[in-house]
Amino acid sequence: MKLNTVILAAGQGKRMFSKLPKVLHRLAGLPLLEHVVNTAHALAPQQTPIVVYGHEGEKVRHVLANLNVQWVLQDQQLGTGHALLQTLPHLDEAQQTLVLYGDVPLITTETLKKFIANTPVDALGILTAHFPNPTGLGRIIRNEKNQITRVVEDKDADAAQRNIHEINTGIYLIPAKLLKKWLPNLQNNNAQKEYYLTDIVARAEQEAIAIHGMQAPAYEEVLGINDCAQLAICERYFQRTNAENLMRKGVTLLDPNRFDVRGQLQVGQDVILDVNVIIEGNVKIGNQCYIGANTILRNTMIGNNVTIQANSVIDGAEIAEDCLIGPFARLRPGTVLSAHAHVGNFVEVKNSLVGSHTKINHLSYVGDSDVGKQVNIGAGTITCNYDGVNKHRTIIGDHVFIGSNSQLVAPVTIGDGATIGAGSTITRDAPPHQLTLCRAQQRSIENWQRPQKKEK
Ligand code: UD1
Ligand code: CA
Repeated sequence: MKLNTVILAAGQGKRMFSKLPKVLHRLAGLPLLEHVVNTAHALAPQQTPIVVYGHEGEKVRHVLANLNVQWVLQDQQLGTGHALLQTLPHLDEAQQTLVLYGDVPLITTETLKKFIANTPVDALGILTAHFPNPTGLGRIIRNEKNQITRVVEDKDADAAQRNIHEINTGIYLIPAKLLKKWLPNLQNNNAQKEYYLTDIVARAEQEAIAIHGMQAPAYEEVLGINDCAQLAICERYFQRTNAENLMRKGVTLLDPNRFDVRGQLQVGQDVILDVNVIIEGNVKIGNQCYIGANTILRNTMIGNNVTIQANSVIDGAEIAEDCLIGPFARLRPGTVLSAHAHVGNFVEVKNSLVGSHTKINHLSYVGDSDVGKQVNIGAGTITCNYDGVNKHRTIIGDHVFIGSNSQLVAPVTIGDGATIGAGSTITRDAPPHQLTLCRAQQRSIENWQRPQKKEK
């Protein structure tokens, strides 16, 4: 599709009361502006979208340096019309220009495609919406023939105009040559002393350029985020829509209102997600899995038939089929669990390979370790991987039994079939198939007197 796409994102967002520029606030884990840039790319993949930036511009460019966009600076934020004016040298006169906003993140490619298809190439297209509460927004003024004649900003509107619920989304499609003619002549004689882009609608009407309005399908899709309350409305709408799509594909969500995805989620068949599951980054869940309540899954691959019980935090892990995890387990980046592994409550695993059928069921820390198959790691076992300066690995063979409350001081190797006596601090390698233990001998003292309470 041949199209100039411009995204206005230079404003400060005063109503956010934040040091962070508004377009860097996150929705579903991504900066607001990134949502809009992604939509622009999906719509016209051949064209590089133009982003008008300004307030705390270097911060914005730094955070979003990986985006494929053309950055155009608006040094002073004198209004939306002034913002678009900065892009004129970069607009192809032969094409239409689509105007989007860094603070209107949920607009979909489907709606925009319809909008573009509905707007004749020589007309001014304007996307409107009916808002239950239109306060603060530009209102659409129509004549007796129901044609759009202009937009009046809330601050400039009279009482009758404030009663209009049809609002300006700010999204337009306009021939670039009209912008080149109109934008340099905008005036700022209005309540906010700003150069309003909305004034182009009245210009079109004066010059008998056709004005084509189209209604957005859902008002949340075009809700502009000006404050934290609107950010929350958009977040909930996004999450609810996403949850409904997943449920329609067969995912069981015990409560779609308590489920959040901040990234990409792939889910297999017959998966049940209990309440308050949060997905971040890239997560893949296989078939027949159950994810318990209050569990966070981040950048993790989960095989088939895996159960993760409540209150587990899983980050950067690969989990093979038939594993049983949690409740209250923490898997950190670099954890690889082989099939049928069990990781139980208050167990932390980091940067470790855990063999098949191995169990680490209670109160343990396993870090920088290679653990074999069919190993039993007793409660309270700690791999001491850090000497205060460097990290070292712990190697545990197959069929090993580590007694409870043992410390394995890395680097150290426990041979196949070895048993470590409970309460041992192991600092040297333990040979295979033997009992190794390291602790004071047990002794009993006869006639030992318990301390007595002193008389005061
Ligand atoms: C604007 C519209 C209003 C519409 C509403 C929809 C104007 C004058 N008003 O109002 O009719 O109902 O959007 O959400 O257009 N920006 C710049 N440079 C500037 C000023 C703004 O780049 O100098 C950017 C902002 O970063 C923001 C967008 O333009 O992404 C909209 O600006 P904002 O101040 O939020 O306009 P609204 O008051 O919401
Ligand atoms: Ca706005």
